[in-house]
Amino acid sequence: MGERWQAVDDYIASTLLGEDDALAATLANNSAQGLPPIDVSPTQGKMLFLLAQMAGAKRILEVGTLGGYSTMWLARALPDDGELVTLELEAHHARVARENLENAGISDKVDIRVGPAAESLAAMVDGSPFDFVFIDADKQNNALYVREAIRVGRPGTTIVVDNVVREGGVLEADSDDERIVGTRALFDMLSGDPRLDATAVQTVGAKKWDGFVLARVR
Ligand code: SAH
Ligand code: DHB
Ligand code: MG
Repeated sequence: MGERWQAVDDYIASTLLGEDDALAATLANNSAQGLPPIDVSPTQGKMLFLLAQMAGAKRILEVGTLGGYSTMWLARALPDDGELVTLELEAHHARVARENLENAGISDKVDIRVGPAAESLAAMVDGSPFDFVFIDADKQNNALYVREAIRVGRPGTTIVVDNVVREGGVLEADSDDERIVGTRALFDMLSGDPRLDATAVQTVGAKKWDGFVLARVR
């Protein structure tokens, strides 16, 4: 079914998304610079853009920048005076992302912070709350990232977490894959936390069978 999922994603992208030079250049540059092709798909990027606009987001936080493909979709949802902070462990990824965002003319809205996201988050002690948080980095820390998202958010903040299904891997309660362990820890945390309303939606498409968590701070 994988090929058909990809073909439908291509159909959706060609009918509803159209051509986009800055996004295409970003993916080409990422590949040329050796970044892994694990960006969100075009249809998922458009979904993030729409969710951020529906939330009326003026301040967006992203955990896991890679080459800035999802960053670009999210930054485009911001009003002129909006801003996006994105956290990335790898200096090389951050450099490529900065280049891509500069080429797209939106780097002035984006603050890329290099280092382990847990440390960058811990350093956020004041400042305006974030309206929208996209979590897409090391899956073992997802529960921590959501707790931090609540702390730097406000009632009504939207939280999206990528890759929470992993071709059904989430069902493997005895897994020794720390990404699966981390994802299940995220579900445990969400199920017991009265500060959030949350669901998870399964997806198929260019990124095979996966899914995302959608949550809102109460
Ligand atoms: N959101 C991007 C894809 C992110 S891929 C997009 O859709 O375009 C995951 C990224 O998280 C990688 O760049 C990886 O280097 C980064 N990462 C991994 N561990 C991290 C950590 N502890 N802190 C911050 N970033 C991390
Ligand atoms: C991987 C990471 C992602 O964020 C993703 O969307 C797909 C794959 C990975 O590490 O393999
Ligand atoms: Mg992802």
